[in-house]
Amino acid sequence: MVKTNLADNIYWVGAVDWNLRDFHDFYTKRGSTYNAYLIRDDKTALVDTVKHTFSDVLLRNIREITDPEKIDYIIVNHVEMDHSSSLPIVAKEAKNAVIVASERGKDAIIEHYGAGFNIKTVKTGEELKLGARTLKFFEAPMLHWPDSMFTYVVEDKILMSNDAFGEHLATSGRFDDEVDEHVLMEEVTTYFANILMPFEPLIVRKIQELTQQNVVCNMIAPSHGVIWRKDPSKIVKAYLNWSTGTAAKKKVVIVYDTMWGSTDKMARAMAEGAISEGVEVKLLKLRASDNSQAVTEILEAKAVLVGSPTLNNGIFPTLGYFLTYVAGLKPKDKLWSFFGSFGWGGGAVRSMIEIARKAGFEVHGPGLEVKYVPDGEDLKKCFELGKQIAIEIKA
Ligand code: FEO
Repeated sequence: MVKTNLADNIYWVGAVDWNLRDFHDFYTKRGSTYNAYLIRDDKTALVDTVKHTFSDVLLRNIREITDPEKIDYIIVNHVEMDHSSSLPIVAKEAKNAVIVASERGKDAIIEHYGAGFNIKTVKTGEELKLGARTLKFFEAPMLHWPDSMFTYVVEDKILMSNDAFGEHLATSGRFDDEVDEHVLMEEVTTYFANILMPFEPLIVRKIQELTQQNVVCNMIAPSHGVIWRKDPSKIVKAYLNWSTGTAAKKKVVIVYDTMWGSTDKMARAMAEGAISEGVEVKLLKLRASDNSQAVTEILEAKAVLVGSPTLNNGIFPTLGYFLTYVAGLKPKDKLWSFFGSFGWGGGAVRSMIEIARKAGFEVHGPGLEVKYVPDGEDLKKCFELGKQIAIEIKA
């Protein structure tokens, strides 16, 4: 391993997963990393482990610095298995280590791996002295699971934030200033949209809480992707802008699929209508774009138009999949409208609206359905709907 120091005696000992393409159905086109950190002092602490398929990499990285038996504490910031599934393997080597987790983290560890661990629970504000260094813990429920917490290295002002402030990006560089900035921000945006969007109000509160507690960050070291050392405030500002709606743009996203091209014609006419009002438009045909991409485009949009042809009296399968995915992520403050072509009975638009209302989305009007192939009049209605939506989001 090329040793990566965050500070004197604070090391990155994680693993790079270059080939990861699926993270619980989030398409991770650029892979990911599972970051773990080793802090050596009078006591030695390992902050997080890695996905079990990389446990050998983690142990090898630790051994280059110290004998795993010398680890005194294993801090488990989050029990989702991309971070904790090496815990049973590492704990066997680190025989004397005390596991440190939140109360809910303790429960989750036992529920995942059994009761054979020596677990110390911590609450927000509690500290653990390692020697010259102090770890301070902040519970961060739902960022990303109920058990999540942050570990702050007080003297070095390094926040080990686990899932928060991360991104799925496999790179040879470990720091923000070692990777392409455009790629980094694209992946940060994709990660936020696909993982953290449902928790926006909690993110705002957590950032406010850390600010009130005078938690200054010289570095933010998440559990995925790069460590923010050049400008940690950049990612914090981006999170606040997304979570408060400040980043929302006059942008319409059109997500659709098509059987014989009719719903495609409708989508294009709507795009033209919206463009005629000078707003930004993104058109994504599912089966050409994936759900993760669509949700990322939706993050900063003010309106979403969703089009499905009717198949067997219902929603076309790709749209059913998309709506299930996006409803779970709960995008806020967007105007939604639905459209599609049908052959005889129809049903897709009605069903999509039902799903949207159940998800709490603001639905604009009754939607627009066209029988078989849209003619000139139909396309004019599509153009007008696109234009109307654009006018509303500009108001
Ligand atoms: Fe990276 Fe919620 O796990």
